[in-house]
Amino acid sequence: MQDQATTKPAEANPNAPTQETVLSVHHYTDRLFKFRITRPARFRFRSGEFVMIGLPQENGRPLLRAYSVASPAWDETLEFYSIKVPDGPLTSRLQKIEPGDKILLARKPTGTLVLDALTPGKRLYMFSTGTGVAPFASVMRDPETYEMFEKVVLTHTCRLKAELEYGLELARDVLDDPLVGEEAREKFVHYASCTREPYPVQGRITTLIEHGKLFKDIGAPPLNPAEDRVMICGSMAMLQSVKAVVEAAGLKEGSNSSPGDYVIERAFVG
Ligand code: A2P
Repeated sequence: MQDQATTKPAEANPNAPTQETVLSVHHYTDRLFKFRITRPARFRFRSGEFVMIGLPQENGRPLLRAYSVASPAWDETLEFYSIKVPDGPLTSRLQKIEPGDKILLARKPTGTLVLDALTPGKRLYMFSTGTGVAPFASVMRDPETYEMFEKVVLTHTCRLKAELEYGLELARDVLDDPLVGEEAREKFVHYASCTREPYPVQGRITTLIEHGKLFKDIGAPPLNPAEDRVMICGSMAMLQSVKAVVEAAGLKEGSNSSPGDYVIERAFVG
């Protein structure tokens, strides 16, 4: 039996997650929702990073999962975009949160989908599927993104039309953003496609790249390492496929310690 007297209370651990309050929740479909929580004054992150979040547990260790921060770095609150997995250990409970509920937020964000991991270039492509759009919600509102690149392209591919709504909302809002709106109106391109329902653009991003449709539609040359930088976020299968296409174009992977032409990160799944 555990000796309660020797168990360190959570508050005494300086690395323990902080308890934050849910401010708002919005459900898009029966599989997708976003929510906003309070942000501790000392919580700092770089656009594109993820952090562990979870729910307090009555018994046992709290269950934490990696979530990309979907709000810009200057925002006073933190936004997250999540899938709902009916029997997912965390999301089956997380999807029921309401304003006023408590969320655990780890103290240290991290990740590779950051501008620091890319060398300078002309165009930035952010290739996303499903909830993989979340980190780019942050990157696309970062003034540095528009300082570094002449063209900023977010592609978002989902199975169904309704699943594109969050990305469409972001693309509309960035044009009126107080900080980057003017530059976004000039440089930002949102390119949405659907794979399992009729939609103006149909098909996987890999096919749209390989067939050249993406580049034709946005008026850019095919991917090339001299000008293009890429960030990729989606399922494991999507990452592998897009990585192969990007590497075939000659781009080399970068990291925080050794910046390169492209970076990848797996979207949160369960
Ligand atoms: P598809 O409908 O053809 O499977 P998921 O919900 O499975 O993560 O998929 C989100 C989107 O990513 C879907 O449009 C899906 O297309 C697409 N996708 C899935 N696997 C890949 C892959 N290996 N390469 C490119 N796109 C993919």
